[in-house]
Amino acid sequence: MQATQLHPLWRDYPALQPELQQVMQLMDDNINISDPAITAAILDMIHSGGKLLRPAYCLLFSQFKPTERHRMIALAASLETLHTATLIHDDIIDDSKLRRHQVSIQQQFGKDVAVYAGDYLFVVVFKILSHYSSSFRSIQLNSANMEKILIGEIHQKDRHFHTEITLADYQEQIQGKTAELFALSCFLGAYESGQSELFANRANKAGMAIGMAFQILDDILDYQETSQEIGKPVLEDLAEGVYTSPLIYALQTDYRQQLLPLLRKQGQITLAERQQVQSLVIAAGGVIKAKQLAKKYTNTALRTLKHLPNVPARATLLQLTQQLLERHN
Ligand code: IPE
Ligand code: IPE
Ligand code: MG
Ligand code: MG
Repeated sequence: MQATQLHPLWRDYPALQPELQQVMQLMDDNINISDPAITAAILDMIHSGGKLLRPAYCLLFSQFKPTERHRMIALAASLETLHTATLIHDDIIDDSKLRRHQVSIQQQFGKDVAVYAGDYLFVVVFKILSHYSSSFRSIQLNSANMEKILIGEIHQKDRHFHTEITLADYQEQIQGKTAELFALSCFLGAYESGQSELFANRANKAGMAIGMAFQILDDILDYQETSQEIGKPVLEDLAEGVYTSPLIYALQTDYRQQLLPLLRKQGQITLAERQQVQSLVIAAGGVIKAKQLAKKYTNTALRTLKHLPNVPARATLLQLTQQLLERHN
């Protein structure tokens, strides 16, 4: 395996590091397609420093009961593989040149290699699950989850450049494209480690709120950080017609009249005009309101987590979830 440095986020969580390393090892072990270009592209992506949040949540929710760790690691690896596949395809759709501080697969190897790499990873998800998971439930839920991501993405595409987009539309989109996978990660960690439906449903609820807060924060970073900081392009959503919560809030204020002529440029909007939109959104309080929304979801998650039994994993879950609200990359 290539030597892997975990994301700096995990320095504060040494107990989780060995299992996260094993997750990456298992992903590596399952990449064996005969095409060298696709293998290289995938291994490069896997080792490019992703945060591994979905597997981490899965592992943490599996730690409330003693259980076979290798099965939990496999489950976590399948979730990260699914996430990685969606990122590779997302960069094709968004025509994004940068991912995790590196040139994206689609930019470096071409869209064809990127489509195959993503497709191959979808296969790997089920390869890992069928080898290590004894239940059909997780396979069924994983495939249902892919459908939810797809529907969220299609919903987003249907509302491209739509200046009447509502906060409810946005919430529906991000639930599908992001929160459902966080929910599934938490649910499966709990369920596959032998917890009751009640516990697993609580995990699902917490995961959904964590995922909502996470995507809202991701959308805020687009308006307030630089590309060097977050390792992916900023203000790109605007040119792609993806209108997120900071802008949606700003469009509900008197700044709407100044924003509309800029947004009317759609895909032709220049960088300078995007920066103008950014300033208007900030001045309109859009970023502040979006932060309040993220905080609301984080608080829901924390409240749900506090109902869980008081074992060390609960404290880690609380700390991690709180920390994600303050992240800058
Ligand atoms: C990026 O997810 C896509 C979103 C859902 C916002 P992450 O920020 O978890 O991506 P990596 O894996 O850490 O790069
Ligand atoms: C991420 O959407 C959701 C999926 C990958 C399905 P974004 O387009 O907001 O993610 P980034 O900002 O490119 O990571
Ligand atoms: Mg994107
Ligand atoms: Mg984004």
